Amino acid sequence: MAKRCTFSAKPRTWMAAFILMSALIPSSLKAQAGGEAPVRYLESQKVWVLTTRRSSYVMGVNAQNDLQTLYWGGRLESDHDIGSAHLQPSHASFDSPQTMTNMEYPGWGGMYYNEPCAKVTLADGDRDLVLKYDSYRINGNELEIRLKDIQYNLTVSLNYRVYPAEDVIRKQAVIENHTPQTVTVESAQAGVWTVPPGEGYRLTYLTGRWAGETQVIQEPVNPGKKVLESRRGNTSHQLNPWFAIDQTGEDGPATEQHGRVWFGALGWSGNWKLVVEDTPSAHQVRVTGGYNDFDFSWPLKPGQSLETPPFYGGYSGAGFGRASRLMHRLERNRILPDHAHPRLRPVLYNSWEATEFNVNEAGQKELAAKAAKLGVELFVMDDGWFGARNNDHAGLGDWTVNPRKFPNGLKPLIDYVNGLGMKFGLWFEPEMVNPDSNLYRRHPDWVMNFPGRPRTEARNQLVLNMARDDVREYVFNALDQVLAHNNIRYIKWDMNRHFAEPGWPEAPVAEQKEIWVKYVNNVYNIMDRLRARYPELEIESCSGGGGRLDLGVLKRVDEVWTSDNTEAFDRLRIQEGFSFAYAPKIMSAWVTDVPNLNRRSTPLKFRFLVAMQGSLGIGANLDRWTEAEMSQAASLVAYYKSVRAAVQMGNLYRLLSPRRGGVTANEYVSADGRQAVLFAFRHSQQLLRPAPTLYLEGLDDRAMYRIRPLDDKLAESQREVSGAYLRRHGLNFRLGGDYDSTSVTLERED
Ligand code: GLA
Repeated sequence: MAKRCTFSAKPRTWMAAFILMSALIPSSLKAQAGGEAPVRYLESQKVWVLTTRRSSYVMGVNAQNDLQTLYWGGRLESDHDIGSAHLQPSHASFDSPQTMTNMEYPGWGGMYYNEPCAKVTLADGDRDLVLKYDSYRINGNELEIRLKDIQYNLTVSLNYRVYPAEDVIRKQAVIENHTPQTVTVESAQAGVWTVPPGEGYRLTYLTGRWAGETQVIQEPVNPGKKVLESRRGNTSHQLNPWFAIDQTGEDGPATEQHGRVWFGALGWSGNWKLVVEDTPSAHQVRVTGGYNDFDFSWPLKPGQSLETPPFYGGYSGAGFGRASRLMHRLERNRILPDHAHPRLRPVLYNSWEATEFNVNEAGQKELAAKAAKLGVELFVMDDGWFGARNNDHAGLGDWTVNPRKFPNGLKPLIDYVNGLGMKFGLWFEPEMVNPDSNLYRRHPDWVMNFPGRPRTEARNQLVLNMARDDVREYVFNALDQVLAHNNIRYIKWDMNRHFAEPGWPEAPVAEQKEIWVKYVNNVYNIMDRLRARYPELEIESCSGGGGRLDLGVLKRVDEVWTSDNTEAFDRLRIQEGFSFAYAPKIMSAWVTDVPNLNRRSTPLKFRFLVAMQGSLGIGANLDRWTEAEMSQAASLVAYYKSVRAAVQMGNLYRLLSPRRGGVTANEYVSADGRQAVLFAFRHSQQLLRPAPTLYLEGLDDRAMYRIRPLDDKLAESQREVSGAYLRRHGLNFRLGGDYDSTSVTLERED
């Protein structure tokens, strides 16, 4: 560990320390940052420069010892370009220099009016928090800057980690109480991302609801605050903790390929908040994020500390397309449990839409045999296998195998599934309890509640108070028992409602609001321990579809159930929004039966090609499929396997958006550039108009590519063309009628 440095250190000691720190940085990191060490301190200017392959982030300390944000954007190539920090002048007597200046981590104190990063009340009633620079420490691609209050020994450590190849920086703060009294933290943000001063900023974010997740919204950023948040206990379908800000330049707003885009995401699966603020006086756009401070209160006793969630931020100089590809790369290479050795996702079958609660050994075996014929690699039995679970009125909490449905336990079914060459997975909803369950009858106090007040049910269930350690241990042991006795390689971890009456009567009153954070930490704890005990285990995050999708849970799960809406045409929009922030590899997508939601029927091929753009699954009732459908499905599964490395591990180019026009098209280029796969969907042809030409991206102009069409829709007759042709001339397809679809693969010739 590098030594902590303060400004009282002698200049020569500083220089020696800097040279030593630079020497400690592995050359692989320097190479990724394009020759520069990812974290540097420039003593002459008192600034820290964080460098990624294509971006720079600069902070500095001014004469008043405030830590300021100086720059975030495209990479600054020369240190001579970097100035030093100084406060902006006040604006009349109403806006202090601090309010007019971009503070890196402002406390609520002094004369500060923008969104603060931290707010506290001390036991003696003092509520003023003014954080000044104290010291710093560099360790490879990590930087810690410590701030300290002007009076109390209350410190905040700002921890930065640079991901050079991903053009992303992670921020996280730790508030530490070194005073002799209790300090109540009322707001704990991870940090703030500030875009350069200027006009014409636009916000992009993801909103939705059950069966309609991840819808893209774009709107101008105007003076005032726009709050994106969850107060529901989990991440939520309604808003996702991701944002992008782009700037309208001479060529208009950023597009998929062009323009400057700053983006960020919180790694937290509980109550979160992003405040997108255009400060009215300084006209500065800032995005502050961390724990939601609504109903938040965290007493820190002397010696205690509170760590915020991580807040990732990145920069793309090449539009939303690259911004998304950087997020995908971050998730695959730095966040997901298999990031050190990424694996392909298997083709999955899930029983839910076929059988709902009506599962039993014979029926599941029949489905498994059919799924295996299609080329499925992982068979997942969904809800209904445990306790008295015949519908959604009973059984949650009793995680023992239902003896009527599985008289010999799960082993015969699992052996059968394994014998067919598939792995076996099982559904759980660990955080919930039905009042009609043995668990609730034994422990009614385990449910979050305010004594004597109603306990609001949703889907006939209540939320266990996972913040309690005894509840956490019960849940861990219940899952552990099932896993210990069965060859289960995959858990679908569901959560089918949000919090209500979040009371924790057993805790001291001052600590009861900690429930929001402790709940999530205990859920994480169970997932982490299960993964440690069963290294082969994979987990799918589900919350009635995509209600728990964020960079916090993605550290612990291998894929995410995108939406309970499996209707293929709707899915195009849900999946597009998902792909703005999250990697195709983790986007679980099933082919299901029609007519589906919206009473819509689409052809089997359309449904398959839509689902192939993520982690392919099948959720249909195979007992009803004809021989012809089975054989078409088997060949489409084989096609998916031939392109899934490009889809799951490659680079995504969104060519045509389902939000505009009548054709949606996406292209995926494999990481080594040797294969590209294109998917195109026609919604409804009108007036005999031909489908638009598709111009490919991400290919090598000079290389030759062999075209492998899936069907006869390709209008071009040649089967070998150059990258330049594909980019400039493009490909034309005979897509007509309603819900037509096609795919081609391009294999690069040596
Ligand atoms: C949720 C999930 C579904 C299914 C059901 C089971 O709604 O999103 O996929 O697992 O629960 O009850």
